Amino acid sequence: MQVRGRVLSVASECVPLIKTGGLADVVGALPGALAKVGWDMRVLMPAYRALRARLDDLDEVWFEQNLFGGDARVMAGEIDGLQVMLLDAPHLYDREGGPYSGPGGDWFDNARRFAALSWVAARMARDGIDGWKPDILHAHDWQAGFASAYLYYGGSGGVASVLTIHNIAFQGWAPAQALVDLRLPPDQFYPGALEYYGGLSSLKAGLVCADRITTVSPNYAAELMRPEFGMGMEGVIAQRASVVSGILNGVDTGVWSPAVEPMPYSVKSLKGKAANRAAFCAEMGLDVPGPLAVLVSRLTDQKGIDLLETCIPDFIAGGGGLAVLGSGDALLEAAMRRLEARFPGRVSVRIGYDEAYSHRLFAAGDAVLVPSRFEPCGLTQMYGLAYGTVPLVSSVGGLADTVIHASPAALTAGVATGIVFHPVDATGFGLALRQLVQLYASKAQWAQVQKNAMKQPVGWEASAAAYAALYAEMLA
Ligand code: ADP
Ligand code: GLC
Repeated sequence: MQVRGRVLSVASECVPLIKTGGLADVVGALPGALAKVGWDMRVLMPAYRALRARLDDLDEVWFEQNLFGGDARVMAGEIDGLQVMLLDAPHLYDREGGPYSGPGGDWFDNARRFAALSWVAARMARDGIDGWKPDILHAHDWQAGFASAYLYYGGSGGVASVLTIHNIAFQGWAPAQALVDLRLPPDQFYPGALEYYGGLSSLKAGLVCADRITTVSPNYAAELMRPEFGMGMEGVIAQRASVVSGILNGVDTGVWSPAVEPMPYSVKSLKGKAANRAAFCAEMGLDVPGPLAVLVSRLTDQKGIDLLETCIPDFIAGGGGLAVLGSGDALLEAAMRRLEARFPGRVSVRIGYDEAYSHRLFAAGDAVLVPSRFEPCGLTQMYGLAYGTVPLVSSVGGLADTVIHASPAALTAGVATGIVFHPVDATGFGLALRQLVQLYASKAQWAQVQKNAMKQPVGWEASAAAYAALYAEMLA
């Protein structure tokens, strides 16, 4: 296939190497999906301690002297089918802990750590790497925001840049005094450029400097221009509205499909789903006469997890059951454990991160709950669609873009794929859970919604085509 263009994708996480959330899924899936339509993509990310063992299989393609306090090199090659470049800078990344935090909380030098990633990305894009010169630098979230700024202020070398916002809640803040240390031009410290509420934000820098801005759903793109969702960035985004667009994420249907589960099933026969449910309930000691709802999530304020403690008791009284997999805020973890203790046989909670167990939940559950306060795109509602595990979601961001509410009109028209509620509070969520119990009880309608859900296309094809069109526009 003829190569339509080359893209250097820059991010802090990427499946299968390291993941804390959906960002990694998306960064890991895009190269494969875009390769199919003629785009040559490479992913640059930090060589965290957990990835150092992979360095031996890679070749050094770049050396950088004094990268924010130490020498660094970039090691490139193929890992699990992905063309990756790992930025090996031990003074920044060789630490015990996660990508953003260690035992004592967030790393104190996160601004520098990701400025370094962005610095190298911009330099490699500008100069080319061993004869491979990208046409486009694709920066993901605040961690790569400065890459667009370094290209903009330091000379782009003919490289266009696009910044994708996966979550505006994380803005990469740094104090104004860090400007010079972060190698940014001091004369650009004013509201129309790098200044952000008296300090710096790598995300804002990216938003100001990138040629194009995307976010992970059309609805979130519109929401971001409003204060309720923009989280301080609404003005910046609104100012750049003419280059902002929303492209919905997809999910990897080779991994997320009921056809590949140990007890497979399909839209033609849901017998396997019933078997998964029965086996799961038996193993967990659950006995649920009504709908079994599942939840797989970071347990944070964003995800509306606190609403469960208020609303689940009524759902249980109506015959429902709940299986939770998640980790995050200690208070929310404790709230989940309280629910489990209060409703033995109806609620099962597993605190932790467990990919295999999450598959079991989607295969076994009747419904998946996503009561987020904001949700740029969301992936678990799409797993729910693929698995006929009816999504019950709040009407925000990508959730509203991917689920068709079972309103009387949609049920009559035969197009409903789930339940969508607002406002995002205990009243809205509680009423939605009631509707879930009722819908589950009317067998014919339930079967129809389940089948509609499973027929929704949730793969990467449409998204890849949209990114390809955007890249092509950027090159034109
Ligand atoms: P976010 O990125 O905001 O956390 P998404 O819905 O985009 O939300 O992506 C979350 C991803 O992480 C999904 O693939 C989901 O299945 C996965 N996930 C979240 N929590 C867990 C967990 N405790 N165990 C396994 N997978 C999880
Ligand atoms: C962020 C968002 C989530 C989105 C993911 C991938 O983590 O919170 O909604 O699906 O990025 O784009």
